[in-house]
Amino acid sequence: MGTDIIGIKLLYVLSFFFCVNGRGLGLASSGANGVQMLERSPAELKGANTHLFNVRSFGAQADGHTDDRRVNGLELLIIQPAQAEINPKWVSILSHEPSQQHGRRPAPQQGYLKATTDLSEYGFSAGWIEFGWMKGLTLTGGGTFDGQGVEAWPYNKCPINANCKLLPTNLKFIAMNKTVVRGITSVNSKFFHIALVECNNFKGSQIKISAPENSPNTDGIHIERSSGVYFSRSLIGTGDDCISVGQGNSQVTITSITCGPGHGISVGSLGKYPNEEDVSGLVVKDCTMTGTTNGIRIKTWANSPDSSEATNMTFENIVMNNVTNPIIIDQAYCPFMSCASKAPSRVKLSDIYFKNIRGTSLSAVAVTLKCSRGTPCQNIYLQDVHLDLSSGEKHATSSCRNVRVKYSGTQIPPPCA
Ligand SMILES: *[C@@H]1O[C@H](CO)[C@@H](O)[C@H](O)[C@H]1NC(C)=O
Ligand SMILES: *[C@@H]1O[C@H](CO)[C@@H](O)[C@H](O)[C@H]1NC(C)=O
Ligand SMILES: *[C@@H]1O[C@H](CO)[C@@H](O)[C@H](O)[C@H]1NC(C)=O
Repeated sequence: MGTDIIGIKLLYVLSFFFCVNGRGLGLASSGANGVQMLERSPAELKGANTHLFNVRSFGAQADGHTDDRRVNGLELLIIQPAQAEINPKWVSILSHEPSQQHGRRPAPQQGYLKATTDLSEYGFSAGWIEFGWMKGLTLTGGGTFDGQGVEAWPYNKCPINANCKLLPTNLKFIAMNKTVVRGITSVNSKFFHIALVECNNFKGSQIKISAPENSPNTDGIHIERSSGVYFSRSLIGTGDDCISVGQGNSQVTITSITCGPGHGISVGSLGKYPNEEDVSGLVVKDCTMTGTTNGIRIKTWANSPDSSEATNMTFENIVMNNVTNPIIIDQAYCPFMSCASKAPSRVKLSDIYFKNIRGTSLSAVAVTLKCSRGTPCQNIYLQDVHLDLSSGEKHATSSCRNVRVKYSGTQIPPPCA
């Protein structure tokens, strides 16, 4: 090996765990006792810097039916840990290249990975495919990660039970530095599609994510305790948040994202657990929301156990098409039937800018700013907001609580009295 670009060539494979961690990179099941190395891997060298691994060379059937995670008692494919120091690393998910036709070399086709539907195969709180504790990974190649969530969704009790068991996230990135994810597709994840935890310097672009509108907790991208995160030019339609920015994030930029269906772009929910960290430096720009239940939502739990802050957030040039709640701050978030207490949220919201937000609202109240009576919102700015009702009928309205908004430019609906 000793190369600096690793290309993994995958054919149609039924169920895979694809683990990358400090010890190396491999395809392995989460139930494996340690990771076994394939030292004499039948890798073919292709180009000066690329290793292409054909999973069929390892004995995989790649027929869409056979469980190909382990072949002959070995994990399917491991790339040696010596490569952990290589920078940058590339993982490209491709299928076979069709043979040369008419003297022209066709582009490689995109690979397709399917997750096992047997929930007992996944570790507690594990992702289906995890990348962790690496620097300089690039994941690209246009392949699809299919979580096959349809059978799993009925087992997700999170929408009704706060102490639910989490189903696996399709792609989980843990403590990664300097990561690029480009041109991949994630469909029908059992839970979140993509999750970032404690990542620094992460760039995602040209990502496609889709799951049905009624699939539970299939958030497109969830970001937590990360910094220097940039997502752009992606298409996300799911049953839950398009992108959710959780606690402990700073310097997060989201641009040119098309969302819908789903619950829109959200900050939060914040203030559910003790010791949550602050959120700051969020920019959401040039996005289009179509048919989503929310456009931009900031949600914090009522009765939060600790205090925290979310500050310096800008939402700019956002188009809303038939969105139920285009702009909504909800500091009394409590999605379950009854919350333990009516105590106000202790998450302080400040320095929040909504600029050039236009389009249509499905509900009569297009702007809802419901701040905490314990810690009222500070420095909330609305500049050039133009939201009509989708029905084309009467005018949209605004609703405010525990907030004094600073308005400038166009204001449709009219400001809170
Ligand atoms: C990632 O960056 C953090 C902060 O600089 C550092 O502590 C950590 O060791 C780095 N991890 C890797 C795998 O490079
Ligand atoms: C606010 O966030 C932006 C974007 O991350 C950053 O460039 C700017 O320095 C922050 N401003 C303050 C006052 O922290
Ligand atoms: C808006 O969404 C509602 C509910 O999804 C739908 O019934 C209606 O046809 C949509 N209107 C437009 C103008 O797209």
